[in-house]
Amino acid sequence: MLALLLPAMLAVHAMAKLDLQVPDQPVVALHGNDVTLNCSFNQAGSFNLSDVSVFWQLTDTKRSVHGFWMEQDQLTEQAEGYTNRTSLFPAELTKGNASLLLQRVVVADEGSYTCFVRVQEYNSAALLLQVAAPYSKPEVTLEPESNLRPGDELALTCVAYGGYPKANVIWQDGSGQNLTDNITTSVVANEQGLFTMTSVLTVMLEPNSSFNCRLINPLLSEERSIFVTVTGW
Ligand SMILES: *[C@@H]1O[C@H](CO)[C@@H](O)[C@H](O)[C@H]1NC(C)=O
Ligand SMILES: *[C@@H]1O[C@H](CO)[C@@H](O)[C@H](O)[C@H]1NC(C)=O
Ligand SMILES: *[C@@H]1O[C@H](CO)[C@@H](O)[C@H](O)[C@H]1NC(C)=O
Ligand SMILES: *[C@@H]1O[C@H](CO)[C@@H](O)[C@H](O)[C@H]1NC(C)=O
Ligand SMILES: *[C@@H]1O[C@H](CO)[C@@H](O)[C@H](O)[C@H]1NC(C)=O
Ligand SMILES: *[C@@H]1O[C@H](CO)[C@@H](O)[C@H](O)[C@H]1NC(C)=O
Ligand SMILES: *[C@@H]1O[C@H](CO)[C@@H](O)[C@H](O)[C@H]1NC(C)=O
Repeated sequence: MLALLLPAMLAVHAMAKLDLQVPDQPVVALHGNDVTLNCSFNQAGSFNLSDVSVFWQLTDTKRSVHGFWMEQDQLTEQAEGYTNRTSLFPAELTKGNASLLLQRVVVADEGSYTCFVRVQEYNSAALLLQVAAPYSKPEVTLEPESNLRPGDELALTCVAYGGYPKANVIWQDGSGQNLTDNITTSVVANEQGLFTMTSVLTVMLEPNSSFNCRLINPLLSEERSIFVTVTGW
């Protein structure tokens, strides 16, 4: 009897779930910009705002990001760091739009967010927020700076800052050939979580050598580069 009932109950339960949709691709937001985390639901029949409960939380820690029920925002449990940065679109709620507006995005906002909605039925779904920031134009310094002679060992240091996430750093010579010499790339985060990337290339100097330091931000598919020619004899 139980074996027969259980699948039937599960089927009914599954059918009673609210139809809820969030983006299945990660949402990319620029550091410092605002982003809307889409969450839409399809409730059959008409309903009032007082029938709607929405709860956004961090998927991993279950901490509250934004709540809304009894026709008002519920923010007493809101996680630290989200103060004054979140809102729903109240006029959109009765149209099935429970999207969250997150303002002034910071690197720490990156992660998975779960949208819970209850009208008569209930459902939840999670989406991934990724943060991106473009790197500054790189700068190259030489060591030693002067009295260069062919055959000397030369260290070129390429620095770019304020970016996120880590960039792919590529060194090329004047003809576009990848340099596989001695390259050391390091990353340091500032207090905002944005990265300074430093890449040092050590080469034996040949006459009229050119070097191209390229940083590619994988999330923005954006490239910043600098081309230097070492002369001086
Ligand atoms: C959010 O939804 C709107 C309206 O459907 C759409 O135009 C927009 O592209 C969506 N944004 C994301 C990040 O999915
Ligand atoms: C929800 O409403 C906001 C504000 O009008 C809009 O920007 C967003 O695209 C809407 N999202 C969906 C999924 O319709
Ligand atoms: C919405 O609220 C109004 C006024 O309280 C009520 O008359 C109506 O029946 C409600 N509609 C639904 C779908 O609950
Ligand atoms: C949030 O906004 C209120 C009202 O403008 C302000 O008093 C408060 O200091 C703000 N809190 C934070 C953490 O920004
Ligand atoms: C140099 O390396 C980059 C990244 O590994 C690669 O995309 C590119 O095709 C390489 N170029 C040459 C000329 O080998
Ligand atoms: C790279 O250069 C540094 C400094 O000149 C040197 O100490 C190190 O041994 C070199 N590493 C390789 C793999 O050549
Ligand atoms: C280096 O460049 C200078 C100026 O372009 C040129 O006069 C010189 O012949 C070049 N030297 C070599 C070895 O290519």
